[in-house]
Amino acid sequence: MRTKLVAANWKMNGSMDEVLSFVSAMQATDASAVDVLLCPPALFIPAAADAVTQHGIAMTIGAQDVGIAAQGAHTGEIGAEMLRLAGAYWTLVGHSERRLDQEETDDLIATKMAAAVRGELRPILCVGETLEQRQTGSERVVVARQLEAVLDRLDPAQLLTGAIAYEPVWAIGTGETATPAQAQEMHGFIREMIDGVDPEAARAMRIVYGGSVKPDNATALFAEADIDGALVGGASMRAESFAAIIAAAAAA
Ligand code: PGA
Repeated sequence: MRTKLVAANWKMNGSMDEVLSFVSAMQATDASAVDVLLCPPALFIPAAADAVTQHGIAMTIGAQDVGIAAQGAHTGEIGAEMLRLAGAYWTLVGHSERRLDQEETDDLIATKMAAAVRGELRPILCVGETLEQRQTGSERVVVARQLEAVLDRLDPAQLLTGAIAYEPVWAIGTGETATPAQAQEMHGFIREMIDGVDPEAARAMRIVYGGSVKPDNATALFAEADIDGALVGGASMRAESFAAIIAAAAAA
């Protein structure tokens, strides 16, 4: 039985005050049956981590990206070790916005995954196809290529502290969600790929869905056999809607 993981990705949104009031509001949520994660902008990680400890909330703090080096002459970068010292225990890697805006390649993302594992951060590898790729029927080819780049570098067992997020780019921030059947099909495909390398790791691997997850579609998504939680953007900015998604995961 895989414990569901519900992660909030605030992207480049929110202020210190908003992070602190969000954490405080989360005190009212019973998150004991689910793993809950908040990835605020990196600046707010220490304050968020302190607030979580202070309020005794069952929520972990994560980063949205990780540098490839542990330290050194890498202007603007933040390494895994530094993130951990700041209070982050997880990191997103290869989010589609970074693949697009920062032109992150599969190879760089695999290097970041290795850096996260080496630095004992729990990585969430984000994969997913664009609208054009889906329209041309190449979603499996794209996701396979994104995943293989990482599996060439790391064993599936090394990824088990983290998770994989299937996030079709056409569903991110668009209000358009993959249907539960569409998401399940891709999650099943990802699990099959891992099964080909390490069946035991495939059974244990958490594969979460991302792309316009909201309280009103979460239950149907979580009912699918291979959907082990959600990576939530827009709907994670308000404590009530994020709490409702956590409740849906706990009930699944
Ligand atoms: P969304 O974002 O929920 O706003 O679609 C999800 C994500 O980008 O991780």
